[in-house]
Amino acid sequence: MDNAVARGVLYFLIAILTPVFLNVVWQYLPRPKSEPPLVFHWLPIIGNAIEYGTDPLNFYRRCRAKHGDIFTFVLLGKHMTVCLGPEGNEFVLNGKISDVNAEDIYGPLTTPVFGSDIIYDCPNAKLMEQKKFVKFGLTQQALEAHVPLIENEVLSYLKSNPKFHGIRGKVNVSAAMAEITIFTAGRALQGAEVRKRLTADFAELYHDLDMGFQPINFLIPWAPLPQNRRRDLAHLKMRSVYMDLISDRRKSAGSKTAGDANEEPDMISNLMNCVYKNGQAVPDKEIANMMITLLMGGQHSSSSASAWIMLRLASQPSIAEELYEEQLRNLGPDTTRALSLSDLSKLPLLSNVVKETLRVHSSIHTLMRKVMRPIVVPRSDYVITPDKVLVSSPIMSHMSSEHFPNPNVWDPHRWDNYDIEDGDDIVDYGYGATSKGTKSPYLPFGAGRHRCIGEKFAYLNLSTIILTIVRNLKLKTLDGTSSVPPTDYTSLFSRPVQSAEILWERRRLDLS
Ligand code: HEM
Repeated sequence: MDNAVARGVLYFLIAILTPVFLNVVWQYLPRPKSEPPLVFHWLPIIGNAIEYGTDPLNFYRRCRAKHGDIFTFVLLGKHMTVCLGPEGNEFVLNGKISDVNAEDIYGPLTTPVFGSDIIYDCPNAKLMEQKKFVKFGLTQQALEAHVPLIENEVLSYLKSNPKFHGIRGKVNVSAAMAEITIFTAGRALQGAEVRKRLTADFAELYHDLDMGFQPINFLIPWAPLPQNRRRDLAHLKMRSVYMDLISDRRKSAGSKTAGDANEEPDMISNLMNCVYKNGQAVPDKEIANMMITLLMGGQHSSSSASAWIMLRLASQPSIAEELYEEQLRNLGPDTTRALSLSDLSKLPLLSNVVKETLRVHSSIHTLMRKVMRPIVVPRSDYVITPDKVLVSSPIMSHMSSEHFPNPNVWDPHRWDNYDIEDGDDIVDYGYGATSKGTKSPYLPFGAGRHRCIGEKFAYLNLSTIILTIVRNLKLKTLDGTSSVPPTDYTSLFSRPVQSAEILWERRRLDLS
């Protein structure tokens, strides 16, 4: 190696190692008592991204063991302060609107996908009104109508989809449940016309939009990448599908109230009849964007939860058989009788299977809020400054032995004689009365002003899908053991590894 090359290599190493060295030294300098402990990291900017991205729960566990419930880690240049446990959840999720906000964090990622003037692209008070409008569309009557629609979608999938041809077979769980959940939510939440369009073309639009949910888009959603161009085009096309549909309905409604022309009342007709407090009817573009949000918003969590339930039932067929027996006992011996909403309330084990799966496998492991001004953490010396992003991770208390004995064991029966206190602290943030969730270590749907609006629908959808499958199929793992596949954390929403397969066998041959 001649001298010039050696010098070049030396300068290069100095350029690389100096920031690393300074970053390490900086971490050992005394820190003010008001700053939460900082998780050690070798690389500036990248920080703890690799450990966090590979397995966020283990990362949080290790940090908690070392630093306690409150600590800060560095994620691609951002300082993330994590507050764990019910007190941490309360602090982050029920923070004052002047202290913390969701839109500055989620908006860059979600606005290109969902569209403008809704959800995180509008003032919080407007979002609260929009959540109330969606709640209007999820009345008891609407939920009652949803159950048979969902059951029919599952039955026709089991009957006609090539994945379930024959008497027995092997199925890729994630792929099948992603399709089933989009068809059921499409039919029930979005209505008959949208369901009809859930064909290959629409699936492609959905896929291109979904690709907008890349973690990198939290930082640079505007990057001129091919996937972002496809995302933007897909949003425009999807929006015009809904806007054309709304305009057709308005035309055919003629002089009648908008929405009346549609025989089957659905979410679109509900939103067409909603009026903001200032007297303005919801503009068509906002209705279209809200429908896109509902389509995309619940899909990942629902498809991941249903895939996990299938994997868990395959790994513990005795629970699947108990579910089958429960419905024979409580709904009668005719397993072809159409299901209704009231049937679901007679099946406590079914509900507990959903509940337990959401405890162990919540797909949203990191809830984030931007800090707007310095906030004192109650009963501590810490002050969280506006350079931080606050993080709550309810799944950490779901998986903690302080709250749930043997937390890693999936056991729906743990809920048999036990119900978790959701808290009696009822509050209305503008979308109806909701529990603050302050005391509960179990918050799969979040808490506070951003609590999920799809909870009832998600339960009903998951319960009906699983009940219909258990009525028709027996499930088991490929190797007959009780093992379940690992979690895939590579996308924004955690889910079972995409290759996971199980075996199925029909209970009755007339459906094959
Ligand atoms: C198993 C299924 C589901 C789970 C586990 C789930 C979980 C959650 C969680 C944890 C949040 C809070 C996010 C935060 O605080 O940062 C949330 C918000 C939300 N969810 Fe769900 N969700 C599910 C299904 C659904 C469905 C079916 C819909 C649509 C009908 C939906 C629509 C929404 C919307 C629009 C928000 C944003 C609310 C806001 O920011 O104010 N979710 N969900």
